[in-house]
Amino acid sequence: EQINKGKYEHYMQKEIHEQPESLTTTMRGRLIRGGSCKAKTVLLGGLKDHLKTIRRSRRILFIGCGTSYNAALAARSILEELSGIPVTMEIASDLVDRQGPIYREDTAVFVSQSGETADTLLALEYALENGALCVGITNTVGSAIARHTHCGVHINAGCEIGVASTKAYTSQIVVMAMLALAIGGDTLSNQARREAIIDGLFDLPSKVKEVLKLDEEMKDLAKLLIAEQSLLVFGRGYNYATALEGALKVKEVALMHSEGILAGEMKHGPLALVDENLPIVVIATRDACFSKQQSVIQQLHARKGRLIVMCTEGDAASVSVGGSCRVIEVPQVADCLQPVINVVPLQLLAYHLTVLRGYNVDQPRNLAKSVTTQ
Ligand code: G6P
Repeated sequence: EQINKGKYEHYMQKEIHEQPESLTTTMRGRLIRGGSCKAKTVLLGGLKDHLKTIRRSRRILFIGCGTSYNAALAARSILEELSGIPVTMEIASDLVDRQGPIYREDTAVFVSQSGETADTLLALEYALENGALCVGITNTVGSAIARHTHCGVHINAGCEIGVASTKAYTSQIVVMAMLALAIGGDTLSNQARREAIIDGLFDLPSKVKEVLKLDEEMKDLAKLLIAEQSLLVFGRGYNYATALEGALKVKEVALMHSEGILAGEMKHGPLALVDENLPIVVIATRDACFSKQQSVIQQLHARKGRLIVMCTEGDAASVSVGGSCRVIEVPQVADCLQPVINVVPLQLLAYHLTVLRGYNVDQPRNLAKSVTTQ
């Protein structure tokens, strides 16, 4: 594996910038477009003997920690839409603490970059004891989670060194979107939707290359935010996970308090924090939640919120309430893949904030890449 930093100063920086390549590797050989029947389809070799069982599950559980949990959350909705199976989210330690019910009719999907996280492994043991079909999604061939699950998919993002996960996150989302396509039936009614997602997957590396051009803009934003104590990130729908993951990056490496907030919950507490000083990122890219996010922006603006709005290219005028907000414009992709694009400016922001604040980017204090003890 290429484990030197090449032209980059830090591994996190390198790993953010190599996402067009890591995503390409994740999808290699798994997406089929064209051919004699012109079908567009997904092939996940590691699951082929288990797809029928997964399709018959009463429930799918996504289980992970940290960034891996957020990646699963980003993919939850497309999996529910395409499979029609309810998907529940579990933070691994919480599932074990509660000894939550798991049944033989469940499919439990364990998401882990390292494949060695102790909490996730304990949850896996628990799910195995309860008879669920266990699927592993890891970046590490031969890891404990890869070995102990019944079947799985490697994300093939390449070795990730920076403690804060970046390229593994986007590859995990892509694997779970492919999982949704593989599990979801190929019916006539959802054919157009499936094809749009597959086309979107093919286009994703070039769109990520485009969004990476925001590097300097994110550095400028980091300069503005360098002395802040706190940053809120509002998202909803597909991009609630982006809000959580963006906030986690800022917290982990820039050592700044940051919280990802489900915009639908704004009125139930977070609104009390809003004033002219606290910076707030609002993710308002085009999808079914767009008009609701426009109304969130209006409400935050009415309370004099200091807003930074992430929107789809061309939407700056319609989201910036009379030019009063700072705007980050990103390219548009299929709605369920938009989290892959939207997280990139937030990764860049966290990276630059960290460097400007003089902290260790690749080894944040008190954190480990792989937490193998409880
Ligand atoms: C640690 C790392 C995080 C990571 C989490 C889960 O907390 O610092 O970056 O997201 O573990 O790790 P995993 O290897 O299971 O994805």
